[in-house]
Amino acid sequence: MNSYIEHERLLSPGIGVSESQADKNLRPKSFPEYLGQDAVKEQMGIFVEAARLRGEALDHVLMFGPPGLGKTTLAHVVAFELGAGFQVTSGPILTRPGDLAAILSQLEAKTVLFIDEIHRMQPAVEELLYSAMEDYHIDVLLGQGAGARSMRIQLPPFTLIGATTRAGALTAPLRERFGIIQRLEYYNIEALALIIQRSARILHMNLEEGGVHAIASRARGTPRIANRLLRRVRDVVEVRGISKINAAHAHEALNMLKVDELGLDHQDRRLLEVIKTHFSGGPVGLDSLSVALGESRDTVEDVIEPYLIQQGMLQRTAKGRVTTIRAREYLESHGSLTEIGNSSDLTLFSADHLV
Ligand SMILES: Nc1ncnc2c1ncn2[C@@H]1O[C@H](COP(=O)(O)OP(=O)(O)OP(=O)(O)O)[C@@H](O)[C@H]1O
Ligand SMILES: [Mg+2]
Repeated sequence: MNSYIEHERLLSPGIGVSESQADKNLRPKSFPEYLGQDAVKEQMGIFVEAARLRGEALDHVLMFGPPGLGKTTLAHVVAFELGAGFQVTSGPILTRPGDLAAILSQLEAKTVLFIDEIHRMQPAVEELLYSAMEDYHIDVLLGQGAGARSMRIQLPPFTLIGATTRAGALTAPLRERFGIIQRLEYYNIEALALIIQRSARILHMNLEEGGVHAIASRARGTPRIANRLLRRVRDVVEVRGISKINAAHAHEALNMLKVDELGLDHQDRRLLEVIKTHFSGGPVGLDSLSVALGESRDTVEDVIEPYLIQQGMLQRTAKGRVTTIRAREYLESHGSLTEIGNSSDLTLFSADHLV
């Protein structure tokens, strides 16, 4: 059983595909289904309504926050609520200005164009976006050398929704062109509980209050992880023939996944332990830490650290990363990594793994 669960969590394209389909089924479509993030939802509700009443395109929106908090979902919801078309692309796949020009020149009025990982756009592509966002036109270069000439293409009013895990990585000119900037926060237990209850209904699971809470408290403030843990709990109870899931069942299943009661997993514990043992508790620079962990800077900074900071385990100081007293107490009470397994495959939360 244990190896079956762990196998499920390994990085493999097959699993990625099936999980993204599963994610799709659970993805909220409208504001009422989008639970939690009340402040963001209230504001966006007003802006959407105002745009609709005026018959105009919604102003451009930048959304930022750690992975899995619902940026892509919210972009879908906004388009749905606007009654507008929705088109998706992402920063890294727009390699040339022509790629973006092709998309922009075919947009219909008021369409929502969603650009994921917008901080990873090439500078030349980004520049094209400036005039598109500000004045709804782009200048494209036709031909080459001395015969080259520039042609202006007029665009219909549209809404750009950009998503990024790190607002700080955006250039100032790009950031300034967004009329609405929304920061998504980690979800509290109550909001996660609502999300888990909704997902359990969709998955036809009979989950008691205690079971909901057990999953919510370990979900790292993140709906995607809540849904993922829920599906793994379902696997375990189905195999065991349990139809009504209580707190004990959920905890047992979650212990197998090595996610503890704070929502910390192997990778989190490893980061804390590496700072403690290799760098005497810090301060340590991001580069040295990434090398010691064998993870990319982005993964450390965007995926692992934010939750540890929110939990008061880690601080980013001018001199580097430092673990807190809370982290040291935590490591003392949770034993060393050799006791909890040491395969880097066993992580729920790596960036690539989050489909
Ligand atoms: N507010 C919410 N209410 C209910 N479910 C949600 C909510 N936000 C997110 N989810 C669930 O979590 C999953 C992940 O959300 P989403 O893909 O929108 O995250 P993201 O912020 O775009 O992540 P990434 O940075 O990795 O692209 C969704 O498929 C959806 O099922
Ligand atoms: Mg996304």
